[in-house]
Amino acid sequence: MTHTTRRTSSHWRSKLGFIVAAAGSAVGLGNIWKFPYIAGESGGGMFVLVYLLCLVLLGVPIMVAEVLIGRTTQQSPVKAFAELSSRNSFWMGVGLLGVITGFVILSYYSVVGGWGIYYFCLSVLHTVGGTEGWPNGADAEAYQKIFEQLLSSGRLNVFFHTVFMLLTTGIVIQGVRRGIERGAEWLMGMFFLILVLLLVYAGSLATFNEGVSFVFGFHAERFTAASLLEALGHSFFTLSVGMGAILTYGSYLQENDDIVGTSLIIALLDSLVALGACLILFPITFLQGLEPTQGPGLVFVNIPFALGRLSFGSVLSAVFFFLLVCAALTSAISLLEVTTAYLIDTFGWQRKHAALTCSLAIFLLGIPSALSGGSDFFGTRMTELLGKNWFELFDYLASNWFLPLGGLGISLFVGWFLEASLSRTEFRRGSNIGKVKGVYQIWVFLLRYLVPFAIVAMMLHALELI
Ligand code: TRP
Repeated sequence: MTHTTRRTSSHWRSKLGFIVAAAGSAVGLGNIWKFPYIAGESGGGMFVLVYLLCLVLLGVPIMVAEVLIGRTTQQSPVKAFAELSSRNSFWMGVGLLGVITGFVILSYYSVVGGWGIYYFCLSVLHTVGGTEGWPNGADAEAYQKIFEQLLSSGRLNVFFHTVFMLLTTGIVIQGVRRGIERGAEWLMGMFFLILVLLLVYAGSLATFNEGVSFVFGFHAERFTAASLLEALGHSFFTLSVGMGAILTYGSYLQENDDIVGTSLIIALLDSLVALGACLILFPITFLQGLEPTQGPGLVFVNIPFALGRLSFGSVLSAVFFFLLVCAALTSAISLLEVTTAYLIDTFGWQRKHAALTCSLAIFLLGIPSALSGGSDFFGTRMTELLGKNWFELFDYLASNWFLPLGGLGISLFVGWFLEASLSRTEFRRGSNIGKVKGVYQIWVFLLRYLVPFAIVAMMLHALELI
C-alpha cells in the first residue's frame, strides 16, 4: 500500500515539537481540575490504581495506534480511516464519532477554561489593587461562596467562555508550526516550573503524608461500578485518546519519527502531572479540614483558600491560575484542531475559515453548559429529569461513553483490520523500543483482546448488565 504525503508543509518543526504539543494536549484541565475531584469523590486510592491500570494497559496502546494511523496516512481522522479501509463507511463513522466528540468536549471544556481565566483575573486584581470580596484566606466558606456565585452567574460564564474560545481560535488559526508548536513549547515549559514549585510547597505541609496515603493507599470504600467506568473514561480523556486528536497530531509527524517511545513519554508526563496535582491539592485540603469529595469546585475553592493565607498568596494564586489556563489552552487547541482539520481535509476549506466556523459552532454548543449552574432550564430542570445538568451530561457522555467507544473502534481497526505487515513496519520504523523483540506482539495482543474486552465489560458493568 502506498500513501501519499499531501501536507508536506504541515509538519512539526522538530521531533520535540510533537512531544511538546501532544503532551500539551494530554496535560490539561483533566489533570488539574478533573482528576483530583473525581479521585476525591471516588475515595482516592482504589480509583487511582484502576485509573493507572487503564492508562497503561488500554490508553497507551490506543495512543500508539492513533499516532500510527496519523503518521501513516498524514490525514485527519475521517480521511485516515477512509484511506486505510478503502472507504468503508463503518470505519469512517469511527472517525466521524471522533470529530463529534471533539465538538462536545471542547464546548464544556471551554467553560471550565473560562473559570480559570476568571480566577486568574480575581487573583491579579487582588495583587495589584486589593479588591473587595477576595477574602484574604478567611474561612473556606467565603471561597466556596465565590465559586458558587460564579457557577450561578450565566453572564460571567458566557463572558469567560467567549474569552477562552477566542484565545483557542487565535492559536489554531496560526497553523501547525507557528501556532500550535510554538504556543505549546512556551506554555508547557512554564507549566512544569510552576508545578514543581507548588509541589515543594505542598511537601512542606504537615498534612503531606495524609495526602499521599489518600492517593496511594488502598481505599475502596467509595468505589462503585460507576467509578470503574469513570476511571476508564478518564484514562482516555487525560491522554486525549479515543477521538483522533492524537491521530491528527500524529499526522504532522515525519515518516521516521518514533511512535512508541514518544507515546510512552507523553503518558508518563501526563500521569506525573495528574498525580502531582493530587499531591498538591489533597495535603492542602486536609490541612484546612476540607472534604476531598466536594466536586468540581475542589481546585477553585481550595487553592485560593490555601494560598490566600500566605503572604504572597494572591501572587502565587495568579501564577497558579495562569498555569491552569495555559494547560487548558494547549489541550483546547488539540480539540479544535481535530474539527478544523476535518473541514480542511474533507472539504478543502481554508484553515482560517475552518477554524472560525468550528469555533463558532462549539461556542454556541457551549452556551447551555455555561448556563448550567444558573439557569432553570439547563440546570435545575434537567437535573430533576436526568439526574445531571447539561454540563455534567455532556462531560459524562463524552468522557465515559464516546471516548471509550472511539477507543474501542480504533483498537479493533488496528488490531483486526489493518494489514499486519503494514502495522508492524510502521510500529518499528524510527523506534528503538518498537524494535525490541516481543514489544510489537504485546501491543497487538492488547489491542486485539484486552482493550476491546475491558472496554465492553466495563460498559456492560456500568449498565448493570453484568
Ligand atoms: N487531555 C486533556 C486534559 O486532560 C483534554 C483533551 C484534549 C482531550 N484533547 C482531547 C480529551 C482529546 C479527549 C480527547 O485536560
